[in-house]
Parts: sequence; structure tokens; C-alpha cells
Amino acid sequence: MPQEAENIWAKKASPSPSSEIKPQKSGLDKIRIVGGKRLEGIIPISGAKNAALKLMCAALLTDKSLHLENMPNGLRDIQSQTELMEHMGCVIARERDLMAINAGRITKPEAPYDLVRKMRTGILVLGPLLARFGEVKVSLPGGCAIGSRPIDLHLKGLEAMGAQIKIEQGYIYASAPEGLKGTTINFPKVSVGATENLMMAATLADGTTILNNAAREPEIINLGECLIAMGAKIKGLGTPEITIKGVKELHGAAHDVIPDRIETGTWMIAACLTGGTLRLKNAQLDHLTALVAPLQEAGLNIEQSERDIIVSRNGQPLTGIDITTEPYPGFPTDLQAQFMTMLTLCEGAGMVTETIFENRFMHVPELCRMGANIKTQGNSAIIRGVTGLKGAEVMATDLRASVALVLAALVAEGETTINRIYHLDRGYENIVEKLNNCGADIKRVPPES
Ligand code: EPZ
Repeated sequence: MPQEAENIWAKKASPSPSSEIKPQKSGLDKIRIVGGKRLEGIIPISGAKNAALKLMCAALLTDKSLHLENMPNGLRDIQSQTELMEHMGCVIARERDLMAINAGRITKPEAPYDLVRKMRTGILVLGPLLARFGEVKVSLPGGCAIGSRPIDLHLKGLEAMGAQIKIEQGYIYASAPEGLKGTTINFPKVSVGATENLMMAATLADGTTILNNAAREPEIINLGECLIAMGAKIKGLGTPEITIKGVKELHGAAHDVIPDRIETGTWMIAACLTGGTLRLKNAQLDHLTALVAPLQEAGLNIEQSERDIIVSRNGQPLTGIDITTEPYPGFPTDLQAQFMTMLTLCEGAGMVTETIFENRFMHVPELCRMGANIKTQGNSAIIRGVTGLKGAEVMATDLRASVALVLAALVAEGETTINRIYHLDRGYENIVEKLNNCGADIKRVPPES
């Protein structure tokens, strides 16, 4: 265990609320950007939010401590997950990008509505808690701006492993008095969350579980490797067939969160749009292969230099490209809005087809208010390039739509005000500072200004 991790744990002598650096600012704040500045400089890439949240859930599988390194700092989603786990009785210590979690004194394996509704990952405590305690009560997560986001695959998978599940008054009551049993689960569609929930549950099940048509995202490999470090027996990570041989118990471990590939991709697109050169520190290009080819085709030079990625525009006009979102290794839905923003300024036209979430075009009307020419039909959008965007007052509607508006504002003529930046705080660490350091004219202002 790294000494630094030991130290923060030693400081945390008694269970008290975590020392996570809480987001101090109001989610109702606005971001104001004056466009037209070329981005030049270095952006440190944070640990991946969508890996970190699941790694925190893995800590629920053992009464020993899990130490996570390269955790993103100050994100609202991480704070909400921390509150949820502390509510259950976990002790969580935090210092810079280190987090130590001990779930040895869980008093209530319960996830109440108020804590789950803020962040859908709350549902991912279901598998680990059920596997370890045999009984759990978790609030249904409810709908979400980008789609209805059902959890049927999570529940059917647990039922196939012997769980009894009933839903009453918005809560899932799950029990497995005899323990979960290994089985073969054939997912009818690829789901990141269901793969993660069932993989965690299966680590403590009796016998072997096979997950067919499993998700292959780097975040799943990161989670699986953490579980292996905790003593789990898992094969096939990164393939559509994951095999988990249940063990009696898991132990503590220290594990690194992978760099955030969606943040990395967002800044690659920013370089393409603004025309500057960015060095993205501690970033992994091999997690972004589906983005690299279209960005190169559009006109971006991309180079991996040890642990950094260097991106710069090739000086030619942006070319229109068609993309379709797909499960990994296909084009990520979480970069669709940002890519569409780039296409608004291309020569000719590009088409974006969204196949993962049914309602993920909410950035379209906002981009059109800034002068973009976009027509949607069903799950496709045709983007006809315009010569320039114009600053406007716009509204952030979900995390990636929000950052897409930031990108648009960076190249728009004049000033853009992005209202209700709550969503950006959920997933982008120090966004204002990172962009300011590269020459952007961006500031955060209170809601009344
Ligand atoms: C994860 O969500 C990510 N969230 C999402 O990122 C990401 O967009 C998504 O995977 C796809 O890559 C986190 O990791 C916290 P899914 P998840 O289960 O796990 C359907 C962001 O911006 N489905 O792979 O909830 C579902 O409705 C967020 O950071 C079912 O039908 O996504 C969707 O159409 C947004 N039944 C598709 O599968 C189920 O039981 C894929 O969803 C589960 C999912």
C-alpha cells in the first residue's frame, strides 16, 4: 500500500464525514465566455469520473480498506457518491487525488431516494451490497434528461443469480438469503452499468458467472482490475465474455483510476475548433481510437508523447464527417455533443446518429441559437457547416451538452453566457481554470449577475 495512502488513512482516526474537497460554488452559477481565443497550453487530464464512481462501489464488497489514486477532485458526482456511502456507514478519507474507503462498519445497506436521485450511479451499490449482505434496499434512480434509462438488465441479472426482487414505493428490495449463485447471463443489449453491477455481485457469488455481450469500456477493465487486486477471479475483461469465479471474500487493495477519456476527447475537439496546440497531460490515446480517425480526417494532428497527447490543427478548413455512436470500442455517446459542435463549423455537412440514448440532442436547439444549422430526424442530425457562431445566452441541460456549449462559446463571436452549470460541476474538474490557463476568456459568475 503506498505510504501516502496509509498516511491519509492514519489521519482519519474516527468515522466522521469525509474530507473530500466539496464543490463550494453554486450549481446555479453561470459561465461567461468571450470567444475567439486560440487555445494554447497544457491541460492536465483528471481521473475518469465514470471509473472512479464504480471503483468506490467496489469498496462495498469488503470490510478492508480500498485506496484509490488519481481520483478526480471537487466533482459533484463524486461528492454525492461519498455522501451516499457515508450514509451507509462507510468511512471515507480524502487528500488531493487519493481516497481511502472502509466499508467495515456498514450499518444500513440502504440507498435512499434523496441521495440516489442526484446521481444515477447510486444503483451500482445494489450488486455489491446484495452480494455481501444478502439484503438491500435501494431507491429506483428515476428518469434522466438524456433518456428513460431503465435498470431492467441489472435486476434481471441479479434475479438470474437467485436474488428475490420486489419494487415498492419507488424502492428496490432485493434479498438473497442463501447467497447469490453463479450463472450465465446473456445481455440482450450492451450495458455499461449492468455489466459493472453484475460483475461486482458475481465476485462473491457461489460458483462461476459468465456475462455474455458484456460492455468493454476501459472503465470496466479498470473496475475489473481493481476487483482482481482485491482477490476476485475474473477473466475476459475487455471482451464481450467476462467470466467471474466467485470467492468467499475480498480484501483491501490500492488501485489507480484511469485518465478520463471523455475529458481528453473534449479537449482534443477544443483544439480542432479553436485551432491552437494543446498538450493533454496524463492521457491515454488507445482509449479513444474511435475519435482519432474522424478528428484526423477533420483536420487534427494527433501525437502521443509518453503519457501526454499533443494535438494541433493542420491549417486546413474543417471537413464534415459522419459518425454513429456505439458501445465501446465504437464512437462514444459521451463525445457526441462535443463532436457535433465541431461539425457546426465544418466545410460541407456531417451527420451524427445517436444509437445509445433516445433523447441526447438537447444541445441542438442551444447550438442553433448560436447560429448553427442543424436539422434532426429521429436519432440522426444533419449539421451543415456555417462560417461562424455567435455568442448568446444558452442553457446547460446535461453534462456533455453543457460542455458542448462551452466549446461552441470558445469559438463564437462575442460573449456567451451558459446558465445553470450544475451539470458541468458533476463531471469536469476545474474547467474554468484549465481553459483560462490555455488562453480562453472564461469566468464563472453568480446567478444574479
Ligand atoms: C454509462 O451509463 C455512463 N455513466 C454514461 O455516461 C454513458 O453515456 C453510458 O454508460 C454509455 O456509454 C456512467 O458510467 C456513470 P448503459 P449507463 O447501461 O451505465 C439501456 C456521462 O455523461 N439500458 O450502458 O447508465 C440504456 O437505456 C454519462 O458521463 C437498458 O435498456 O449506460 C441505454 O440506452 C451519461 N436497461 C443503453 O442501455 C438497463 O438495465 C446503454 O446504457 C440498462 C441500460
